[in-house]
Amino acid sequence: MKVIILGYGRMGREVEAALKLKGHSVAAIVDPFAGQESELTAEMAEKADGVIEFSLPDTAIANAEKYAELKLKAVVGTTGWYDELPKVREMIEKAGAAYLYGSNFSIGAHLFFHLVGKAAKLINPFPEYDIMGYEIHHKMKKDSPSGTALTTANRILENNQRKNTLLFDRCDREIQPDELHFASIRGGAVPGVHKVLIDSVADTIEISHTARGRMGFAMGSVLALEWLLNKKTGFYNVDDFINESLA
Ligand SMILES: NC(=O)c1ccc[n+]([C@@H]2O[C@H](COP(=O)([O-])OP(=O)(O)OC[C@H]3O[C@@H](n4cnc5c(N)ncnc54)[C@H](O)[C@@H]3O)[C@@H](O)[C@H]2O)c1
Repeated sequence: MKVIILGYGRMGREVEAALKLKGHSVAAIVDPFAGQESELTAEMAEKADGVIEFSLPDTAIANAEKYAELKLKAVVGTTGWYDELPKVREMIEKAGAAYLYGSNFSIGAHLFFHLVGKAAKLINPFPEYDIMGYEIHHKMKKDSPSGTALTTANRILENNQRKNTLLFDRCDREIQPDELHFASIRGGAVPGVHKVLIDSVADTIEISHTARGRMGFAMGSVLALEWLLNKKTGFYNVDDFINESLA
């Protein structure tokens, strides 16, 4: 496929590499602040199958307007604009365009969420087994817990009958049986480790996801666009793509 890359920052460059690895070609690169094309045009859209966007939150709505107007199939990894989701959805659906967004395009992370959900369910008949988790990220990370930790912890709550409450802070008391403790550690250059432990007196089972860098997100966005090209129209979340692929 021929793909327009919108936003040529850290992720845009990874997308370029991922496209190359999968044998696709780059139709154009749009990023006025990175010495690339200053805007997306109808001529570019005509020559492309779709666009992959990793730009900045305050540009996401104007970009979506453009995709709707040009009926350009779009995979959008840009985060931080989700308050405007209903507006973007209406715009895309009205135009009969195809749009897929998500805050985590890593296929490995989604496989991890599914494995954790299954494991949390499997231990329901066995009260001997408790469940907990932790995550490690580099010293530059500003937020905690990570978005991936939040999703992981929520998957456990959805699937495990004994856990009802999330506890991300330090615990200076005995933990309650219905609390799920998920800790965050910061330091070094770790791109991201998420671990879930299922523990009993007899043994420990560990489910772990270790990111090596940004390539996982970029490759996932390329696979998501391949999937979206088979849809005529629609407003999709990355889970639609993952769940259909896993089914
Ligand atoms: N969904 C995921 O899996 C995933 C993974 C990693 C990052 N992200 C998100 O992707 C976004 C980009 O991340 P990054 O690390 O590449 O950031 P970055 O700051 O390195 O790159 C953003 C790029 O967007 C460009 N840009 C700004 N305005 C633009 C415009 N109007 N048109 C085109 N380009 C424009 C900037 O010049 C910059 O080069 C962020 O919102 C981040 O949270 C999502």
